[in-house]
Amino acid sequence: MAQFTLPKNSTINKSAGRKFPAPAGAKKVQTFKVYRWDPDTGENPRMDQYDLDMSACGPMVLDALIKIKNEIDPTLTFRRSCREGICGSCAMNIDGTNTLACIKGCDEVNGEVAIYPLPHMPVVKDLVPDMTHFYAQLASIEPWLKTDSPAPTRERLQSEEDRAKLDGLYECILCACCSTSCPSYWWNGDRYLGPAVLLQAYRYIIDSRDEATGERLDQLEDPFKLYRCHTIMNCTKTCPKGLNPAKAIAETKKMLVERRT
Ligand code: SF4
Ligand code: SF4
Ligand code: FES
Repeated sequence: MAQFTLPKNSTINKSAGRKFPAPAGAKKVQTFKVYRWDPDTGENPRMDQYDLDMSACGPMVLDALIKIKNEIDPTLTFRRSCREGICGSCAMNIDGTNTLACIKGCDEVNGEVAIYPLPHMPVVKDLVPDMTHFYAQLASIEPWLKTDSPAPTRERLQSEEDRAKLDGLYECILCACCSTSCPSYWWNGDRYLGPAVLLQAYRYIIDSRDEATGERLDQLEDPFKLYRCHTIMNCTKTCPKGLNPAKAIAETKKMLVERRT
């Protein structure tokens, strides 16, 4: 049987976590346990505990993280920008699910809130994953409209029906919650493109204005890039925007079969 071991410096040192109690007189206390890792110290990760007075905190998990950073512990590192589910920066694992901290309510979690970076990604610091490989994979599918025909004097038009084919695809904010929840991506992320990038690939394949459909399908006809998807569906279950990457992958596979017949 295969045996897996974690790299030594990745296991959480349970005894090293620090505790920050709620202020005296706090009316409504909720506990946040947050993954901490600083590459500069050479120490293993730890879980720090922050007890917050929720009567003086905004409702979302991102509000709690900002409160911790502003008022309790400025060393805590995380990404965020829009704070309304549009930029994808605040993707992390909250209460066991990959999601966006800015649209996850603290009251959606019963009891203490456990917060980790997106799983199976290298960590830059604390809750910040290294997205370099993910973005290189995105660039590899050339996520822009490709055309050979002469440019029209105005924008390239699309019928309402063709435009509707992009619904459920254009809304993707590339947060990577889906890819980092996918077991196939965990094990083969070096070569399997993963659900987020495959959803983007399909978004250009079915865009009526794109003229590189055959070339795009050729690129995906590969045992690893596309066919490592085994329809496990974690991606669709976790997407915080309610999208269905598994369906986009299935549609792409269908197109590859259809063009062979
Ligand atoms: S499909 Fe959903 S989970 Fe995946 S990257 Fe796009 S928005 Fe994020
Ligand atoms: S359906 Fe495919 S992409 Fe989605 S989680 Fe499963 S294996 Fe991964
Ligand atoms: S801060 Fe932009 S999606 Fe959360």
